[in-house]
Amino acid sequence: MQKIAICGKGGVGKSFMVYAITKALQKKGFSVCVVDTDESNVGLHRLFGFDVMPKPFMDFLGGKKSVQQTMIKRFSSGQNEPKMSVIEKGQFYVDDIDNEYIIKQENLSFITIGKIQEPMEGCACPMGAVSREFLEKIMLHNNEMLIVDMEAGVEHFGRGVEKGIDTIIAISEPSRESMGIASKVVGLSHTMNKKNYVIINKVPQGLEEKVKGIALSMQLPVIGMVHHDPEVFISSIDGCIDDTSKALDEVYDIIKTIL
Ligand SMILES: Nc1ncnc2c1ncn2[C@@H]1O[C@H](COP(=O)(O)OP(=O)(O)O)[C@@H](O)[C@H]1O
Ligand SMILES: [Mg+2]
Repeated sequence: MQKIAICGKGGVGKSFMVYAITKALQKKGFSVCVVDTDESNVGLHRLFGFDVMPKPFMDFLGGKKSVQQTMIKRFSSGQNEPKMSVIEKGQFYVDDIDNEYIIKQENLSFITIGKIQEPMEGCACPMGAVSREFLEKIMLHNNEMLIVDMEAGVEHFGRGVEKGIDTIIAISEPSRESMGIASKVVGLSHTMNKKNYVIINKVPQGLEEKVKGIALSMQLPVIGMVHHDPEVFISSIDGCIDDTSKALDEVYDIIKTIL
């Protein structure tokens, strides 16, 4: 049992990788709880074959405005965000979550923390605070894994969202820019004493050695590379992933090495 966070620059394939790693973990016999903490994602549930997303967990706490109010009170009494508590419950298991806020299907469950709904609705503090506490308090059984689709970039590290996480996997494209962000993720994960790995995604055929060389020169802890797979890209037009895509097999082989 592990809580795994998937991080990296926007568009590198975090959501794809959350799907592919979930499939790999299921194949290994684990039940997987997928947690969507990306306020901007609109289609992660669809990748998993769900037509509608569950009610956001934020609503269970009375909605974003209510959490914002609670946070303002806590701020004014001198508390700082990375330590603040907004969830009354103590530790809880996946099965303790109210049915409205979770979708379940065989050995898969899906939770979304919250989404941006309106312009000018305020900062991302409530999302960060709820995600951090949720990920810290949720407990896993022996045969369970939890995987988090994180917001792009590294702001969530500043909010301490990774506190309850065991393993952080940074996804990067072969570009220097996204490897730079992966490197930042690795550094921050290291400072938090979290296990950390990098997977390079969308690697063009024939460029493996070059990409590997650049990653090594940046001292990235690369555990594997996934090729650019036109089938994955094409299936994203429909908002789903073809389970026969070669990229899924590549991810399975990589994930086996860290279990
Ligand atoms: N290995 C791959 N080969 C081809 N296309 C990919 C691959 N991984 C991801 N993609 C495509 O890249 C785009 C961005 O992926 P996505 O998972 O949404 O990124 P992120 O969640 O990091 O923003 C999608 O169209 C997705 O289908
Ligand atoms: Mg995404």
